[in-house]
Amino acid sequence: MADAVATPTFYPAPAVTRTAPVGTVEHPLPLIIDSDPGLDDALAIGLAVARPEINLLAVTTVGGNADVRHCTTNALRLLNVYGARDVPVAEGSAGALFGSVVRATEIHGEAGIGNTVLPESPVAARAEGAVDLIAGILRKHPEPVVIAPIGPLTNIALLLRLHPELASRIAHICLMGGSIGDGNTTVSAEFNVYADPEAAAIVFESGLPITMMGLDVTHQATLHPPAGARLRELGTRSGSVAAELVAYALEREGQWYGTPRMAVHDAVAIAHLAIADLVAVAAYDVQVDTGSGPARGRTVCDGLARRVERKGRTLNAQVGIRIDRERFEDILVDAYRRLP
Ligand code: BDR
Ligand code: CA
Repeated sequence: MADAVATPTFYPAPAVTRTAPVGTVEHPLPLIIDSDPGLDDALAIGLAVARPEINLLAVTTVGGNADVRHCTTNALRLLNVYGARDVPVAEGSAGALFGSVVRATEIHGEAGIGNTVLPESPVAARAEGAVDLIAGILRKHPEPVVIAPIGPLTNIALLLRLHPELASRIAHICLMGGSIGDGNTTVSAEFNVYADPEAAAIVFESGLPITMMGLDVTHQATLHPPAGARLRELGTRSGSVAAELVAYALEREGQWYGTPRMAVHDAVAIAHLAIADLVAVAAYDVQVDTGSGPARGRTVCDGLARRVERKGRTLNAQVGIRIDRERFEDILVDAYRRLP
């Protein structure tokens, strides 16, 4: 009788030693976050501010979950709430390099952060755009800088095209996007890659060291209703904001997936840079489908080294495959305990 359990038809690549640098309290990692806040972006930015292993140099914005104007306002206001208004913010691209603009307002709300209304920040966005701000930091910072793109990759692709000489100043790209398996926006494609596949292809083909936190691992990094209560009980303003964002996400994602849970996708990319052993990674050759068919925006991930070699390609990214959910929740709650 045939085995009732189907054999997977994909090759699951084995875990390997991470290549992404990790910050320490003694030597915090210089980091730029490129983001489209965004409910999970908001939690990710709070995590970066709270962790002493990270030196947050800037937050740049890109149109994605919501209109870029909303994303910029959100970034400024979130940093103000988190007690980090000295971190510069600059606005980037309103939409993709090509094609139509894709938004995720059905999950994140029209303004990107659900119904949450944050106090205005006394600080304005920098006059220069996102790409100029990143370029200036890369030029001036004494050591190479890590970039964590947690929205569509438009700004980062533009940076690489406008300032190719600065690629050597990027220590690592630790991004949230893509998927070995199914997508979330389409069955093939994850939102950040689907929103700008051409930009994602430029980044993955750049030759830079890349870690991709895709849906395979971020769908393990979930919060459930008790986590919202833990954040609220912190009794701090940042904890209350986080609890409100989680409550909104639980409801919206609950409608989408059928159970109240929030995948805090973007925070996985940040956590990987602060905690060495939280996320297990495997080596893949990642190619982005930029065609116009149903696989547009898919990250085609090949983990079979011999096949990759035969194609004349290389294993160009480490991809997140496993995370301890409970430990991740504790890390997030603990981060918000440290914020005002
Ligand atoms: C990604 O898409 C956005 O909606 C989230 O903020 C996250 O960056 C998940 O697919
Ligand atoms: Ca995002």
